[in-house]
Amino acid sequence: MKIHIVGGGAIGLLHAGLLAQTGQEVTVWTRTDKQAERLREEGIRLETLDGDARDIPVNSYSLASLQACTKGQAGDGAEQSPAWILLTVKQSHIDEPLLNQLQLLSSGKTAILCLQNGIGHMDKLAAALPRALLYAGVTSVGARRLDDARHVRHTGDGPLWFGAYAEDKKDDNLQILLLNILKSAGFHAGLSNEMKDMIYQKLLINAVINPLTAIYDTTNGELPQHPSRLKLMRALFEETSAILTADGMKSSDNGWQLVMRVCEATAANVSSMLSDVRAGRQTEINWINGGVSGLARRLGIASPFNDAVTTLVKQLR
Ligand code: PAF
Repeated sequence: MKIHIVGGGAIGLLHAGLLAQTGQEVTVWTRTDKQAERLREEGIRLETLDGDARDIPVNSYSLASLQACTKGQAGDGAEQSPAWILLTVKQSHIDEPLLNQLQLLSSGKTAILCLQNGIGHMDKLAAALPRALLYAGVTSVGARRLDDARHVRHTGDGPLWFGAYAEDKKDDNLQILLLNILKSAGFHAGLSNEMKDMIYQKLLINAVINPLTAIYDTTNGELPQHPSRLKLMRALFEETSAILTADGMKSSDNGWQLVMRVCEATAANVSSMLSDVRAGRQTEINWINGGVSGLARRLGIASPFNDAVTTLVKQLR
């Protein structure tokens, strides 16, 4: 199947590499010409979970070249609309130019699987792409890019759930096709019709771990080791959990244990927010804690901890 991966970060390259390996026709759309050129020339360098490393050939173009593609000036494989687009860019990259590029890349028949952390993007995408079949996804797979272009390491396994954003805008055959392809590429993929709940469950974890690891400049495993930080984690957890539950998240007795388990399972990892801060990149704070504060405002609930960490993280870069 023709699969277009939008975003050449760790998650994009991992999906592109694993899917291309199973014989899918994969094209990676990157932000820079330079990265696209390296990917076209040298392929994706994929380090698998068992430490094996291989080069996997893929098509690749820069997103900026899409205008030229639609006028028929780009290479083979870029002119036709793909069956599936996997949108793997960070929330902060879902801006006006990217929405225009997605409009060019998609057609009425295109389905788009969105793999972002946080909230806010699905509404934005639905407004900009009214004909697209939008799917929300939540993934716990781990990946790290080891250079600025093509080298990615698969660092952890975890479930990948996806489901239609709007019940009346889905294609049963296309979604089963993608599910089977993802499974045969080694992903623990599943279809769900409870995506809002899954997004909120992941948001709860991100809203506790990400801002505090960024503020304290610490790994996920070290964060709960300090009593005062643990206290702050708990306060952020309780506040966020109450807000998300008020907006429809199923309440669960083991939410806090889950946060602790994620810290333990990813103990040596630097969270995505801390690595953005360290690299001087824009973080996803507006779509994680900022998103939770926005929900709270709509519901008329106070959100002092989410407001505070949002302000603090914004000052880190
Ligand atoms: O955003 C991240 O880095 C991850 O989702 C997690 C597990 C919360 C922290 O590493």
